[in-house]
Amino acid sequence: MPNAAQKVQPCIVVIFGASGDLTKRKLIPSLYDLYVGKQLPETFAVLGVSRTPMSDDEFRGHLLEQAKKFAHHYDDKTWAEFAPMVHYHAGDSTQAEAFGPLKARIAELAKQHRTGDNVILYLSMAPQLYEPTIVNIGAAGMVTEGKAWCSINREPSWQRIIIEKPFGHDRESAAHLNRVLGRVFEEESIYRIDHYLGKETVQNLLVFRFANTIFEPIWNRNYIDHVQVTAAETVGVEGRGGYYDSPSGGALSDMIQSHLLQVMAVVAMEPPVTMRADDIRLEKTKVLIGARDITTDMIPKMAVRGQYGPGQNEGTAVPGYRQEKGVNPASQTDTFAALQVHIDTWRWGGVPFYLRSGKRMAKKLTEIVIYFKPTPHALFREQAMKKNGIPPNQIVINVQPDEGIRLRFEGKVPGAGMNMKSVEMDFDYVKQFKAKPPEAYATLLLDAMRGDQTLYKHRNEIEEAWRIVQPVAEHWRENPQDDLPNYAAGTWGPSAADVMMARDGRHWHNP
Ligand code: BG6
Repeated sequence: MPNAAQKVQPCIVVIFGASGDLTKRKLIPSLYDLYVGKQLPETFAVLGVSRTPMSDDEFRGHLLEQAKKFAHHYDDKTWAEFAPMVHYHAGDSTQAEAFGPLKARIAELAKQHRTGDNVILYLSMAPQLYEPTIVNIGAAGMVTEGKAWCSINREPSWQRIIIEKPFGHDRESAAHLNRVLGRVFEEESIYRIDHYLGKETVQNLLVFRFANTIFEPIWNRNYIDHVQVTAAETVGVEGRGGYYDSPSGGALSDMIQSHLLQVMAVVAMEPPVTMRADDIRLEKTKVLIGARDITTDMIPKMAVRGQYGPGQNEGTAVPGYRQEKGVNPASQTDTFAALQVHIDTWRWGGVPFYLRSGKRMAKKLTEIVIYFKPTPHALFREQAMKKNGIPPNQIVINVQPDEGIRLRFEGKVPGAGMNMKSVEMDFDYVKQFKAKPPEAYATLLLDAMRGDQTLYKHRNEIEEAWRIVQPVAEHWRENPQDDLPNYAAGTWGPSAADVMMARDGRHWHNP
């Protein structure tokens, strides 16, 4: 598990796909914030690699605007100290010939910045470019298995690779990518990123569950009725129509296959034997293995797809998905997906997990809601009749925004009679710790520099996650749905998702 005291060794972070959005919006602002927090190694450099010709200065200029917007602690003076560590190299990483000059550039920077031979290779590019890039990295001899490479020093060195999602578009393509990676890198050098694992509240789940005695005894089928995980966004596809309207796009593949199944795995995992990365990842993998196959006949009951039509976003009229740039005007892509997952294990038998995610929804919010079972004996029957039933106890874990945890239970209304009302105990992350949670990418980049894989996914987790969603994704592709778009932008998604819940006698938690 991340250990703040662990020393970070000097290194260079090489970002492939550096002219893309992620570099500007997340990677550079996060590295800059780490610099502000004095968490970067003493000697450090970043090298952006893309095809577009650019000088170092032009690249820095291209990053500045977004750094001002997205870094948590921007100021001109500190940026002026940080920027000289950032460099740029134009090259096409799908071409083997590009790697001679690239290696020479890395060696030159390693000398200039005294970073030694430690390198993080960050693939932040179109997913079809992953394989040729990995093959070329291997063929160019950039992975030295601990031996010195740039010949700057003779210390044992490391080369690690971070790979962005989408990691494959189904189980077979993910397994193939894992094999390609495995021919070049050891598993301990492969960092498959899922930025939800870097979110402070998701990590806090481990502490909440395993550092406290009061929750774990009730964290099972005897007390829990069902669990909901919602990741709702108010944004549309934000100029990413081309990617989103492809086989690895859509809410099911883009969000549920990765982020939501990971959150579910953390909620549902058994206590790990130790806090070591492999022990934690093994327990998460076991949850995913336990998820029941969704057979074709079950899909209409267990999965709902939606697509937004024109509507409102925070008071402004916005177009429908099919009118977005780069999207097929007859697109069948799901901008909303809801999925019911059953984990066939001793702990979770009979407890459904309902996962849903959508774009252009009513509110930006990611939350986990644990619904508890009713009391075994209804002592307050009369009051329950008045209130239309006693609401179940709930633990609401706000992943973002307003990070925190709320426990909802029944309390007695003061005064005569035994009237009751739902009340809340509230833990607010910002109020309690007087700090804004760090950006997930900053946490994860630092972990990769420290060699800590806890918050990165093991190959088996990714392949299992594809196994869970793949039958649904394929069924949807093969069977167009006539009523799309089926929800207006700015709402909580299609009514079919409410019907799915109502069929089970439940309803979504829509704050
Ligand atoms: C990304 C998805 O992984 O996560 C995007 O590809 C989505 O489509 C984003 O918008 C959501 O992340 P966050 O941190 O804003 O919830």
